[in-house]
Amino acid sequence: MGHRRSKIQGLGMSVPEGGLTTNEHLTQWMDSSPEWVEKRTGIKQRYWAAKDNHSSVSSLALPACVDALSDANLDKSELDLIIFATLSPDASFPGSACFLQAHLDVPGIAALDIRQQCTGFLYGLSIADLYVRAGIYRNVLLVGAEMQSKCLDVSTRGRDMTVLFGDGAGAVIVSATEVEDESANSKESFIRSSHLHADGHFAKDLLWESPGTANRIWNPEELVNSPEAFPQMNGRLVFTNAVRRMPEVTLEALEANGMSAEDIDLFVHHQANRRINEKFADALGVEPEKVFSSIENYGNTTAATIPIGLFEARRTGKLKAGTMVASAAFGSGFTWGASIYRW
Ligand SMILES: CC(C)(COP(=O)(O)OP(=O)(O)OC[C@H]1O[C@@H](n2cnc3c(N)ncnc32)[C@H](O)[C@@H]1OP(=O)(O)O)[C@@H](O)C(=O)NCCC(=O)NCCS
Repeated sequence: MGHRRSKIQGLGMSVPEGGLTTNEHLTQWMDSSPEWVEKRTGIKQRYWAAKDNHSSVSSLALPACVDALSDANLDKSELDLIIFATLSPDASFPGSACFLQAHLDVPGIAALDIRQQCTGFLYGLSIADLYVRAGIYRNVLLVGAEMQSKCLDVSTRGRDMTVLFGDGAGAVIVSATEVEDESANSKESFIRSSHLHADGHFAKDLLWESPGTANRIWNPEELVNSPEAFPQMNGRLVFTNAVRRMPEVTLEALEANGMSAEDIDLFVHHQANRRINEKFADALGVEPEKVFSSIENYGNTTAATIPIGLFEARRTGKLKAGTMVASAAFGSGFTWGASIYRW
């Protein structure tokens, strides 16, 4: 008899229609240059839904989820749980998983939001994997989706942060599988393990404070033009911590599985700045081509980055059945984590 494990068996992604925003477009709102943005971040374009007042993050996520279900050959009636990772929810409450559940029309199943920002997808993957391993659920829809363009300061004051972020959604179906061989050399497709961390001492180094109960500003008119109305970031500190934590947690995951970096075919990481991922390749001594990059086309889509990366890696032929993948992420909280799985 095999062991019950979980695997990712369906993928979908979406970006806001008509939302393409190039580095050139940015210069109409802020003092910046397309060359600066590309050189310092690797980003050439991103998608922003900002001007579309009728859309919400759950409506952006819907087509990605429908495509992931069809990619997995699964009917929506077979879903047991929805996990929605986002920092830009439809509303303060209820969670976007509930809005999405209504769009999908799957009432009754459990619906859960998680708030781990750039590490949200990996926290969600760990939760999905453990519910499936424990035999509680068979099929989990995990979506990372962001519509952060609606919260950004699109002026010179906010430029260091604003140029990095894009909107998008990536969805996966995590399903039960029976695994015979769990050894490091096993060729079977399943999620090996996830390793999660956080350090709340850095909570204020990357945050969106208002409206929140810690903030005194509840008057919308007062809020509109205050810096607290927008996300704030201590960019250099975030950068140096990301460069340290992403290799560290990847090595932790490799060691837990009796593997080394050479055993990984493809690293599909969170992407906040291309220079962070280049430094990751240097730190672990892996060929830069093994660290997948799609940041040039999407920017940092926070919780959506890893599933969009998986989608793009598969579309371009880099991710195939049997590929051994490691994913690491770092972001607000600070939170960070890594997962290893064979596709
Ligand atoms: C934000 C980030 C790109 C800034 O890059 P950097 O090389 O550290 O740049 P600095 O902050 O030192 O700024 C250098 C100069 O560029 C300017 N600058 C910042 N943003 C700019 C922009 N969009 N366009 C033009 N100039 C810009 C700064 O004002 C500064 O000017 P000064 O030297 O006259 O003061 C970088 O710190 C970063 O990527 N941090 C991590 C971000 C991250 O991971 N966030 C999400 C976590 S999930």
